[in-house]
Amino acid sequence: MSERPGLLIELAKNVASTFDPIREWIERRSARRAVEAQDNSRPFTLWQELSDRTGGRLSVQGREVLEVGPGRSLGLSLIFLAAGARRVYAVDRFRHLFWDRLDRRHTVAVLERLDAEGWPFAGAARHAVRDIDSENVSFDPDLLIYRQADGAALPLADASVDLTYSNAVLEHVHHPDAVVRELARVTRRGGDSVHEIDFRDHFVERDRLRFLEFPEWEWQLRARLRPGYTNRLRVGDFQRLFREVGFELLSGMITQHFEMKDVEAMRPRWASRFRDRSAEELSTAAYWGWWRRQ
Ligand SMILES: C[S@@+](CC[C@H](N)C(=O)[O-])C[C@H]1O[C@@H](n2cnc3c(N)ncnc32)[C@H](O)[C@@H]1O
Repeated sequence: MSERPGLLIELAKNVASTFDPIREWIERRSARRAVEAQDNSRPFTLWQELSDRTGGRLSVQGREVLEVGPGRSLGLSLIFLAAGARRVYAVDRFRHLFWDRLDRRHTVAVLERLDAEGWPFAGAARHAVRDIDSENVSFDPDLLIYRQADGAALPLADASVDLTYSNAVLEHVHHPDAVVRELARVTRRGGDSVHEIDFRDHFVERDRLRFLEFPEWEWQLRARLRPGYTNRLRVGDFQRLFREVGFELLSGMITQHFEMKDVEAMRPRWASRFRDRSAEELSTAAYWGWWRRQ
């Protein structure tokens, strides 16, 4: 029988996480936030991955871009501007930015690197951020609009952007069908939607497939309200959701694998909705996809 300790602890974490002030208090003091804020290179790595994976065929110049779930850094949103995006919307459900010294230093470092490397529109990125010397940081709404909102109810008009982008976000949303529908609603016809999705267990690092054991009701009890919640959809589920709302897959790749022998060893223990999936789907630990709105 599988060992399932800690349901009460998980439930307690769930309850504590429902209170925004508690969640934000924890986030503000998180050691991981401090580490990530000091890593100024990560947004540039994400940009490089985007360029490499799209083979340089995805231009942002003159386009309006939505980044869903930027998390602890607006660095990539600023890079989109420095690469020529006309305007960037950044929408995250939770508060991760406090504009304390950590956030300000991170943002300044990104802007300085854009200048130093001579990015064609580095000036736009710089102008997008106002009052970076104080905790009252704000943004020029003609260039950058940052909102705290759920991806399932995006605060954007229909057909208002040309590119929607996320990294490690779609696995976290509570209503993936609604979020993908919203991506279709706000993306202009012919526009692009690019997402990397991480299919690993986010709570148990030593066994990244463990969470597929739980029946749905138990998983929801354990994880639903915690910030690191994952919806456990597999890659085929996302492919279907994108297809159903009118996105065509242009290009996709598995970016991380589980070992096939681990998949097969664990398969009998999984909840029924996962047990019968193909080995290829179950061994997909992370997937990157580029869809086009028809
Ligand atoms: C793992 S973090 C990824 C952050 C960033 N994209 C990165 O790669 O570092 C997931 C992000 O998704 C956000 N998020 C989770 N659910 C969301 C939702 N329903 N709508 C918008 N953002 C959401 C979280 O607040 C968090 O910032």
